[in-house]
Amino acid sequence: MQNTQDYQGAFLDYLGTFSKVREPKNLYEPINYILKLGGKRLRPVLTLMSAEIFNCDYKKALDAALSIEVFHNFSLVHDDIMDAAPLRRGEQTVHEKWDTNTGILSGDAMLIMAYQLFENYEPETFQALAKLFSKTALEVCEGQQYDVDFETRDDVTIPEYLKMIEYKTAVLVGAAMKMGAIVANASDDDQNGIYEFGRLLGIAFQLQDDYLDAFGNPETFGKQVGGDIIENKKTYLYLKALDFLNASESNQLEQLFSVSLEDNVEKINTVKQFFVKSGSAEATQKEIESYTTKAFTVLEALNISEDKKEILKAFGSSLMTRKV
Ligand code: IPE
Ligand code: IPE
Ligand code: MG
Ligand code: MG
Ligand code: MG
Repeated sequence: MQNTQDYQGAFLDYLGTFSKVREPKNLYEPINYILKLGGKRLRPVLTLMSAEIFNCDYKKALDAALSIEVFHNFSLVHDDIMDAAPLRRGEQTVHEKWDTNTGILSGDAMLIMAYQLFENYEPETFQALAKLFSKTALEVCEGQQYDVDFETRDDVTIPEYLKMIEYKTAVLVGAAMKMGAIVANASDDDQNGIYEFGRLLGIAFQLQDDYLDAFGNPETFGKQVGGDIIENKKTYLYLKALDFLNASESNQLEQLFSVSLEDNVEKINTVKQFFVKSGSAEATQKEIESYTTKAFTVLEALNISEDKKEILKAFGSSLMTRKV
């Protein structure tokens, strides 16, 4: 097993050989731009780690890891259009730097490229990877649609929210890990176990993403702080605040989340105060911990050494203290 930085380094080298700008430039340049913009490379690192956890040379999993990262970046290009987001990884989003049509088509091409990468595997592995990919990608679309639908609903429940983030985010983290296990020819039980670990970690990851969207440091966060508040996203922070606040304050908060404003500075400040004073900010932190712990519990049943379990736990714990 290598450490996270080594996997990241190997992945970046491989990415370097993959992204080449071809004609037409307006299709391929944005793809290159978003893929080279950085990011944590969390999902591909998990794919490579997972392959080695199940005793396979991580190099065999590089195409699967790349596929996952290309798909993830495709989803971000389209997500940024849907969320009207100006910033990604501290730089302009694709649809801001180019335009919306460019974002749509470059995103479409990335989705196809992600699929194409499975062609580098033997038929049996190809089929297993493609099957998991199709199921996961469709679930991500479902999650994204719920996310958008919830913006204009005022009766979203916490179970609905949890299902939405499971689909839009967590299943891809699970699939990233399961792909490593597929390439490694791990047993079905191990494949499903590592998927479940990734899925639970992915729920914690999205809860944290929502937390940082409100409370991240604008200097370093890389996205527009308060973007979810501007877009009236029904996050755990928001739903728990409604739960905890008294009737008059929760009315006020609901009112703020029923409008679309030109100037959002005051709205963001007021909403964040509600999140803190209601205790929902703290409750979100607890929920992140709780899902991370649930993920660790799943590891117990896996047929791998204690050392490897510790490596996965260390990785999961490190995600909880992330600032971006
Ligand atoms: C952002 O994912 C979108 C979510 C699913 C929360 P990341 O936080 O992994 O984004 P990058 O790739 O590191 O920029
Ligand atoms: C993104 O969720 C999930 C997908 C891209 C599928 P968010 O909309 O919260 O992600 P960020 O915050 O823009 O990265
Ligand atoms: Mg977004
Ligand atoms: Mg979104
Ligand atoms: Mg977010």
